[in-house]
Amino acid sequence: MDETAKLIIDGVSYDLPVLTGTEGDKAIDIRKLLSSTGYITYDPGFGNTGSCASSITYMDGERGILRYRGIPVEQLAEYATFVEIAYLLINGHLPTQDELNRTRMILNDTSMIHESMHVFFQAFPRGSHPMNILSSMVNALRGFYPELYDHDDPANPEYTYLSLVSKVRTLAAMSYKISKGDKVIYPRHDLSYCANFLNMMFDSPVKPYIIDEDIVKALNVFWILHADHEQNCSTAAVRVVGSGKVNLYSAISAGVSALWGPLHGGANQAVIEMLTDIHENGIPLETIIAKAKSKKDPFRLMGFGHRVYKTYDPRAKIMKRMADKILSKFRREDPLLDIAKRLEEIAITDPYFVDHNLYPNVDFYSGIVLRAMGIPTNMFTVMFAIGRLPGWISQWRESINDPHWRISRPRQIYTGEQQRNYVPTSQRI
Ligand code: ACO
Repeated sequence: MDETAKLIIDGVSYDLPVLTGTEGDKAIDIRKLLSSTGYITYDPGFGNTGSCASSITYMDGERGILRYRGIPVEQLAEYATFVEIAYLLINGHLPTQDELNRTRMILNDTSMIHESMHVFFQAFPRGSHPMNILSSMVNALRGFYPELYDHDDPANPEYTYLSLVSKVRTLAAMSYKISKGDKVIYPRHDLSYCANFLNMMFDSPVKPYIIDEDIVKALNVFWILHADHEQNCSTAAVRVVGSGKVNLYSAISAGVSALWGPLHGGANQAVIEMLTDIHENGIPLETIIAKAKSKKDPFRLMGFGHRVYKTYDPRAKIMKRMADKILSKFRREDPLLDIAKRLEEIAITDPYFVDHNLYPNVDFYSGIVLRAMGIPTNMFTVMFAIGRLPGWISQWRESINDPHWRISRPRQIYTGEQQRNYVPTSQRI
């Protein structure tokens, strides 16, 4: 017999269907709740709300598990490339050699940016944040490439999705070059996805960039770890905005904007700023921990805590190992890594952090890895955005093909004034 939940309101009993996911997760289906009872549910921040059924990413926050299309992220970080992961997320299976070759060909074919877009770039005021530039430029792509995709008529979805994956990488590197006033470096067909990005970022007509395979590998892993994370803030934004049937580019641009916030993807920049502040001003770590615990102080320990993970974020474990590896390769020490490790040591044994289940998340060590690659701090969240792009695209694709798809439109509990009359200006006190 199908499982049901019973809800009793004012002595009247209602049966609500229970849905079960493939990993045993349960949800009470409340789609008919309002029409049958007159009640809605109240869940600010959607902590208990399943907004969709999805077959893309599985997370178990209690056990620290993350899988893309069923495959553990640890295996993917060890053996796969970011391009394979993009394919896996968007299409649901790992590519065969032929599919991979075709994917690479499309990524190369579509890597250039319309020359008129350069004019756009030049018009941004100096000092504009690269995330600001990226969200605007992604939205602008719809104007420059209207032929690529129409919401209801996917002429060639594969080409559209991959061209976005390719172009966003070029846009990101261009935004960095232009923000510095440097010559833009074009993508090259002979380089892999990650090597191409590094080359566009760091090559110059006067000093060629030497591509280091260990850095390329590290970037692959960095992007794989960020590629999807089920219904997080920016992905939810992509789905909500997309639910109005807006085009792919505008939905993704909303995701970029949502990611920018320091409580979400912007945390990688905020962590490095926090660690730099501690380092440069010699702030005792106990003071930082006390600030984070104080209810009178809005400060939070950046890079700690997660809505879903109530244990160590599996991505943070890999990122921490990578920080050690990449710094030792260059025989370099980063005082911020040492501070981060000591902060973690204090925090994970402190009763406040233990009681609140606060552990390092992906952003705690990721900035140290990016710094070691030479990526400037204000580009950190852009790096996250490039990594998350395949996830956003696959979630958007799944949502527009969902037979239960409806425009996203939450309800509210109204707490304002009851009806009252308009008062003319002369009678207002
Ligand atoms: N430092 C100190 N206290 C914290 C922290 C933190 N980093 N995170 C949560 N808490 C405390 C809150 O004060 C609250 O305490 P209380 O119950 O005693 O009032 C409790 O833990 C629960 O916090 P919420 O804000 O309700 O948790 P939520 O799930 O809504 O927020 C979030 C999750 C936003 C990630 C939060 O932990 C946070 O602000 N962390 C710091 C920013 C950060 O690292 N963000 C990146 C997240 S990963 C990502 O998006 C890529």
